[in-house]
Amino acid sequence: MYTQLEQRDMAEPPINVSTLRRMKADGEKIACLTAYDASYAALIDAARADVVLVGDSLGMVIQGHDTTVPVTVDHVIYHCKAVARGLRHAFLLADMPFMSYTSNDQALTNAVRLMQDGGAMMIKLEGGEGQVGIVEHLARHDIPVCAHLGLKPQSVHKIGGFRVQGRAPDKAREMVAAAKRLQDAGADVVLLECVPNEVGEAVTNKLEAPVIGIGAGPQVDGQILVLYDILGITRGRLPRFVRNFQQGLDSPLAAVEAYVAAVRSGEYPAPEHCFS
Ligand code: KIV
Repeated sequence: MYTQLEQRDMAEPPINVSTLRRMKADGEKIACLTAYDASYAALIDAARADVVLVGDSLGMVIQGHDTTVPVTVDHVIYHCKAVARGLRHAFLLADMPFMSYTSNDQALTNAVRLMQDGGAMMIKLEGGEGQVGIVEHLARHDIPVCAHLGLKPQSVHKIGGFRVQGRAPDKAREMVAAAKRLQDAGADVVLLECVPNEVGEAVTNKLEAPVIGIGAGPQVDGQILVLYDILGITRGRLPRFVRNFQQGLDSPLAAVEAYVAAVRSGEYPAPEHCFS
């Protein structure tokens, strides 16, 4: 009945936000992947990844859209429920989709839905200085938050494409400052997408909160990739930071295990996956 208390005594208790903080403090790399259904979630769990994200990338890899913009809260909840059923050990993070956090009230209502209906343990929103108030509001209500900085795919039409962010020194400084402001407002984790190594390193050194990178270099506290990219399923031109872990291996489980091992050892990302 008291599952949380029983799990605390297990040899390998499930990952929670304290585990992620402890891993950063110990210099142990955090291995994260996206998932969208129960079968792959169970496989990722068996491979001992630490965090599973139900990302709004589902709009692209599951629904076949060009961007994440068409994804709704209902879509994320549907996939989150399925993923939650597949997990025993990994920490479940879910994306707040486009325009689902434009005000404090709307953000809180949708975050609560992702947690209560979807089973998420933390929500992720794309933000900068403009989202500090929203993060503060969610944190005041004890909603665990991951703040996504750098390339923000929900802003693709505003930015004019999926491109590296924070290359100019003033933009890099702004990003480091925004990450600190978001952490101080209550963000428990920061995710950095598509930034030069130097920005990944600066943000990681500045924050006590764990920093997870995707195309943010080797110095961040953990790595995340889209599941279908590492399995070699995604077709067409892939981002520089993607590595196909399925190549030369005979099962998806072996590929995910190879990814987890490469993140833990620091073998991934290699220089060819990074921006500088
Ligand atoms: O939606 C997603 O899958 C993400 C990752 C790319 C980090 O946000």
